[in-house]
Amino acid sequence: MSSLLSHQSKWVLQEEGISKETIVQNETLFALSNGHFGTRGSLEEAYLIPEYSYGESTLVNGFYDSEPIQYGEWAYGYAKNHQTIIPVPNGKKLTISLNGEPFHLKIGTTTDHKRTLDLKKGLLTRQFVWTSPENQSIDVKIERFVSYDYPELLVQKIWIIPHQDGNQLEVTAETDDLTKMSHSAKEEDSHDPRKKTVKERRFDSRNIKGSTNKLMHISPHHTDLNLIIGATDTFSDQSATIKENGHQVSWTVETKKNQTISLERYMAYGFIFTDPNEVENQARHIDKLLSTVKKEGYAALREKHLTYMNDFWTQSDIEIEGDDTLQIGLRFNIFHLHQAAGRDGLTNMSAKGLTGEGYEGHYFWDTEMYMLPFFIYTQPTIAKQLLKYRHSILPKARDRAREMAVDNGVLFAWRTINGEEASPYYPAGTAQIHINGDIAHAVNTYLEATEDKEFARKEGLDILIETARFYEAYGHYDDLRDGAFVMNDVTGPDEYTAIVNNNFYTNLLAKHTFNYAIKWVNKALEENDEVTQQTLNRLHFNKQELKAWKKAADSMFLPYDEDQQLTMQDDSAFHKKVWDFNQTPKENYPLLLHYHPLTIYRHQVNKQADTVLAQFLFSTEFSQEQKDRDYAYYESITTHDSSLSRSIFGIMASDIGQIDKAYGYFMDTALMDITDLQGNTKDGVHTANMGGTWMSIVYGFAGLRVVKDTLCFFPKLPKQWETVSFTLQFRGRALKVTLKSGDVTYSLLKGDPIEIEQFGQKRLIK
Ligand code: BGC
Repeated sequence: MSSLLSHQSKWVLQEEGISKETIVQNETLFALSNGHFGTRGSLEEAYLIPEYSYGESTLVNGFYDSEPIQYGEWAYGYAKNHQTIIPVPNGKKLTISLNGEPFHLKIGTTTDHKRTLDLKKGLLTRQFVWTSPENQSIDVKIERFVSYDYPELLVQKIWIIPHQDGNQLEVTAETDDLTKMSHSAKEEDSHDPRKKTVKERRFDSRNIKGSTNKLMHISPHHTDLNLIIGATDTFSDQSATIKENGHQVSWTVETKKNQTISLERYMAYGFIFTDPNEVENQARHIDKLLSTVKKEGYAALREKHLTYMNDFWTQSDIEIEGDDTLQIGLRFNIFHLHQAAGRDGLTNMSAKGLTGEGYEGHYFWDTEMYMLPFFIYTQPTIAKQLLKYRHSILPKARDRAREMAVDNGVLFAWRTINGEEASPYYPAGTAQIHINGDIAHAVNTYLEATEDKEFARKEGLDILIETARFYEAYGHYDDLRDGAFVMNDVTGPDEYTAIVNNNFYTNLLAKHTFNYAIKWVNKALEENDEVTQQTLNRLHFNKQELKAWKKAADSMFLPYDEDQQLTMQDDSAFHKKVWDFNQTPKENYPLLLHYHPLTIYRHQVNKQADTVLAQFLFSTEFSQEQKDRDYAYYESITTHDSSLSRSIFGIMASDIGQIDKAYGYFMDTALMDITDLQGNTKDGVHTANMGGTWMSIVYGFAGLRVVKDTLCFFPKLPKQWETVSFTLQFRGRALKVTLKSGDVTYSLLKGDPIEIEQFGQKRLIK
């Protein structure tokens, strides 16, 4: 068990002492962000001791560099460019020196070193006592937070209490524009596709002159993006000698025993802009912001931040009694989910949030299928912004569909930042056309839960109509299958099986995509307001399309093996040899790092939930016996080499009544990053898995399904817990659900009475 959890508070992760072994993982766990930008939980003086850091990165959501992908052998339609999120200047760098000797962990003695991430407050605090080689000591406390009230703002305060009089104490704050970038460069050479790749500075920087605060303008080497970054400080002792050098400022004072000296530091990471003529405007905005917050002061900003965090937890907490470790783990996951989500409608959530450069900061289907449910049911305004991002990249998705010779609709990129496909490996990239259905499914879930008409008539229709059109054009009616609608040469969610015909998950989602499009178009037509008309005209929508989609949905081919009475993952599923799990040594997992893709593809072996995921999403469409059989079979061939797998197997274990098993999967997923279960937390947290743990409680143990616009619960509480409670936002209501053994209570916190169902029995909650 991680030492971070070995204490009593249910809101705090605490690191006592410091070791080279755990610090790189903890840099990720202690990362702070607000969806716009994030900064890893590295030590302020990490630049002096590179072995105590894996990457001090500060990352701005959507700020990336690009380079052509070099293919040994090219083919038409291959993704053209890499998109790589890049570390931006590091503003949290601090140096404390006593009589000219700079503090770091390898000099003098550091005692009582303690770092605390307070999840409730969103604060990272560090404390220690340092005794210099001259035997002079100071108490140090540093606190950091990333503001939600001012999304551009990172705030840091340092307090120093000298133990002796008469020493020269120097504090230096710096915005490091990474000209040395030494830490990232020491990253071991690795082919692991999940790791970070940026090893050198990938932007140009230029100082902005004439501003009140210190500002710089940066832009990546190969994209037309721009950012303004700035900093300002307040030092407590007015008599300090100040030295300035570029983006570095230092204050020197003579120490007085037990008299606290403090430095407040305000750093701003502006929003991305593309028009170079905007530099001055944006710089003015950041300059003004820095002056405003400096005037407001650290204490007031901190107070505001705590209020924001408190409101967040009121809507989004899950409380669990009977397991304190788990309680922290769950809150940790919710905290990071919330931190990761872009909120400006132009950015999304990367697979690692803003905690590391793993997966290059790309957005995947992870957002819609794993993270969005949490936002839809607890923070719907953020959910809407995430879906708006998808809407913003529709033009790129339209171009991509044409490039794939599909003459109608859109195909969303498998992995991307700017909307263009960035996956150089199409068998596990572009071929995953289920991404369209994943996004359509998320739009439907959002609309069902919020009844957001404004979104439904514009963005909603745009996405649903265009994704349905794509599937209709991609598939065809196959005479050899009695005229069924088939979709060939696709890859489903399971990336250990590629380019197959009729992936069950993809076909089922496509079927539902058609039905979602029909449903929301019909609803909009009933009201037939101006916005609906504009949308339909813009899309050149023709009512005949509804008929065509209905036909395709009703004729959708869903592979099934009658002899074994098993759902087939795809047409080829049972024709392959089963992987020899007994002969596979433990160290050969994940298989993707030890076997050629073809070796994996020609076997029955799964990386992650695929058919089982489809049965979770549409669980009321399958009989209990069918789900039992499919679960047993697919579980036996699944490695869970993807972090997206276990939570789904856990939820389905609840669905089929195997509560002990569900509990086991859940405990693995809930603590995945804190325990470094996948062995790569240092590259960033596993955001999709974090969403998976929220789903495991709500869809798994509480058994929530929305059927015909009604919240239906099938609750079962693991015997290990006393109570679990959470709040759901649904159609203007806030509903608190509390599971106790043998009992469930539902209370309405906000809104009109609502009828729900529990095990098929109707209940009015008022
Ligand atoms: C999984 C994908 C996922 C990606 C990013 C891969 O290992 O197989 O399903 O989208 O990671 O999290």
